[in-house]
Amino acid sequence: MTAAASFWLGTSWKMTKTLGEAGAYADDLRSAVEAGSVPPELRLFVLPAATSLATVRDRLDGSGVALGSQNAHPGPDGAVTGEVSMSMVRDAGASLVEIGHAERRTLLGETDNMVADKVAAAVSAGLTPLVCVGETTAERARGETPDVLARQVRAALSQLGRTRPTELLVAYEPHWAIGSEGRPATPAEVSEGLGVLRRALDEDLAGTPTSVLYGGSVHAGNAADLVTGLPVDGLFVGRAAWTAPGLLDLAHRSADALRRRTLHRPKPPDLVSAIVRKDPR
Ligand code: PGA
Repeated sequence: MTAAASFWLGTSWKMTKTLGEAGAYADDLRSAVEAGSVPPELRLFVLPAATSLATVRDRLDGSGVALGSQNAHPGPDGAVTGEVSMSMVRDAGASLVEIGHAERRTLLGETDNMVADKVAAAVSAGLTPLVCVGETTAERARGETPDVLARQVRAALSQLGRTRPTELLVAYEPHWAIGSEGRPATPAEVSEGLGVLRRALDEDLAGTPTSVLYGGSVHAGNAADLVTGLPVDGLFVGRAAWTAPGLLDLAHRSADALRRRTLHRPKPPDLVSAIVRKDPR
């Protein structure tokens, strides 16, 4: 796994927003970008409902904000009632596609096999997969978190064959941390999850630019601590970024925290003096 440059900050709007609301959000975001008030080190992304993808694409075109779909079917275009294909969401403006979100796994029965098929289909369609993984409350209580995360991420990559994504995003989103009933994971819990995922990705996907994000009840009060204290490559946000000011507030907090992270990073040992000390000729 190769760490990708810069820091991702994005939101899934889930099943919210009329066309009018989606367009207004996109307009606000575009104005902020044009006013220069989006920190340049951030890669912002928005995942609208499929109904507003094209509208948001038109409003954000050329703004640098990436657009994605919350889901897509892995099969080719054809007779699958109620679904949209990878190529259709790409045509509507998506460059990212979210796959395997906890709500889809628990409410809609999305399995590891379905996730694997979708990841392979996304890559073939030229989309960047944003794969969500995370353990349930019961799995955590049984001490299964590392096994579950490694299994989910390995399964997600299992249908790729020799094909390699140009870029991959993986979001660690413990099920118990998501939504209004959720409890945000502590930095220690996130750190454990990130470690497992990076090890699995290193083994299975060396050389592919991969970013590991955290999501689950991220809000203005905890974003900075998550960014400063952890080697996380991005934050994936639901409710707290369902308004453009909410996303922009998190953008500023994340950028400030990133600067603090850089300031506090331990300096690499001074190699020259270490060599001189070892071999003082
Ligand atoms: P939340 O959602 O921030 O509203 O908890 C996070 C997610 O589902 O990605």
